[in-house]
Amino acid sequence: MCGIIAYSGHRPAVPVIIQGLKSLEYRGYDSSGLAFVHLNRIHLFRASGKLEALEARLDSGHVIHATSGIGHTRWATHGLPNEQNAHPHLDVNSDLALVHNGIIENFQELKDMLSGQGCTFRSETDTEVLVCLISFGLSQKGDLRQAVSWALSQVEGSYAFAMISRHHPGTVWAARQASPLIFGLGTGENFIASDIPAFLPFTRDVVFLEDNELVEMTPEKWTVFNARTLEPIEKKTQTISWDVQAARKGGYKHFMLKEIFEQPKVIRDCLAGRIQRHKNSISLPEIKDLPIPSRLHIIACGTSYHAGLWGKYLLEALAGIPVDVEIASEFRYKPLVPEKDKVYLTISQSGETADTLAALRLVREHGFPVLGLCNVVGSSLAREADHVIYTQAGPEISVASTKAMCSQLVLIFLLALYWAEKKRLLTGKDLENAITTLLSLPEALELELPDMRDRAASICKEYSNAQSFFFLGRGLFYPLALEGALKLKEISYIHAEGYAAGELKHGPIALIDPEFPTFAIAPCDGLLGKVKSNLKEIQARKGRIIALTQPGSGLMVDNEWKIPGQEGPASTFFILPALQLFAYETAVYLGKDVDQPRNLAKSVTVE
Ligand code: M6R
Repeated sequence: MCGIIAYSGHRPAVPVIIQGLKSLEYRGYDSSGLAFVHLNRIHLFRASGKLEALEARLDSGHVIHATSGIGHTRWATHGLPNEQNAHPHLDVNSDLALVHNGIIENFQELKDMLSGQGCTFRSETDTEVLVCLISFGLSQKGDLRQAVSWALSQVEGSYAFAMISRHHPGTVWAARQASPLIFGLGTGENFIASDIPAFLPFTRDVVFLEDNELVEMTPEKWTVFNARTLEPIEKKTQTISWDVQAARKGGYKHFMLKEIFEQPKVIRDCLAGRIQRHKNSISLPEIKDLPIPSRLHIIACGTSYHAGLWGKYLLEALAGIPVDVEIASEFRYKPLVPEKDKVYLTISQSGETADTLAALRLVREHGFPVLGLCNVVGSSLAREADHVIYTQAGPEISVASTKAMCSQLVLIFLLALYWAEKKRLLTGKDLENAITTLLSLPEALELELPDMRDRAASICKEYSNAQSFFFLGRGLFYPLALEGALKLKEISYIHAEGYAAGELKHGPIALIDPEFPTFAIAPCDGLLGKVKSNLKEIQARKGRIIALTQPGSGLMVDNEWKIPGQEGPASTFFILPALQLFAYETAVYLGKDVDQPRNLAKSVTVE
């Protein structure tokens, strides 16, 4: 989730790039950099930390002359947020400079090949491999456009990049694959950026680049090519009417909605490089030195705790590992019972939640290994855990956590498959099926999300007067019921409780009446019959029911909301966004402040 800006025009490029980077900072900023060509040499400036650190480095002598260049603000997903890993990266001859957003999955393979050709590397990034690959292509083909095309045919993964060459001052090359890149058209100047706000003060005329497209731009001219065949492609120009705030939200009304709709990409990014299709295997190099735990203890707060609860069901079922899950604020004030070979797993989006960190420190003081699952690279949790797996969801800005949970669930799913594979608990066919299902999720979810949003918006109106809600689920879907209730209360301020469906009759059902609705999670799994009986008990007390279910469930409720018929845990990745959208649309309908709900903070760094 980094920010890219490239400029070629008649203005001094560096201020344009810095301004662009400032408007991209909401995408994350742990290091930044820029490069331009002057006097037949690439000038490179990079700094870790906020943009001011980069600005302080700029040497005004050269900076004023450049009228084209590239810039980058980094939100680390791999590698520490330090200067060495900051973009742009240069090829071995310092002829090319490149900024990149995304993950080159086969970078190690390519790096080995390039090393064999005598190439040396200055960083550990996949980006440096990409620029060196293009440089190698250039040495073979003699033409930069062809070299880029060849290099792109070699890489696997996702990317959006922009590149300059010291031999072609004023020209910028850029391409994308599964990562956004937008081209901005000015008069005598052109822009490329990962997000529209980066050039919105200069132009509103844009071209949205698609996968497998390569653009070559100068101040006066731009051409989009098919990246493989190098045939020119006709593109339609669009005029954007968004203001800067709307543009930061990618045209969505709220960050929460944008982040819900980013989930297909989040799943894709989580899986990138972690599935070895040809070997039918899961790869988690981050934990290659961690022995398979005989017991696991998960500690987290809020939404991350719900992800942990969901994980318990899956890790026990697939990997046969007994799992305890505890709320960090409870765990930290209890005596710790030492258990041999137990591994602690702390889950946190921010990596800065005070209770989770305190629990982590306590566990480490007792000499137990801690595995951290975390979104923010370089956060306290990431630094202090013995092993860390990054969830790579990109910056989450809305206080209500959505895409971060999605990424945690994908990683837990992969962990369960990884340990199950190591313990030989799955047949090759089981693993192949699970991998195929996981890989199919992003596209299937992308197709489904717009209809899900419409459905959420229409159902929520009927229930917006409710004072209270139950959310029910069984098995894997009980933790999702807890999450659905948390989302609703957090942003709409409607009281909501999540319950295991079978538990309702032990007390809570006393509350049911026509004014007290229930949101049931009832996919077509082995527990559907049980959930149906629970819902009948509610209907007998005149309770209204919304049921999130799948085709063929045979449920008779007030509002049946059908999601695709994915089997088992995979259905989670449709149920979760449906719950998030229901909470979102309810809050919008009630006129609440969705992104910054009252009394809450994004990162809870106090007890
Ligand atoms: O950053 P963390 O994952 O450690 O945060 C934990 C909770 O504070 C967080 O999930 C909170 O519950 C969210 N606001 C829920 O949407």
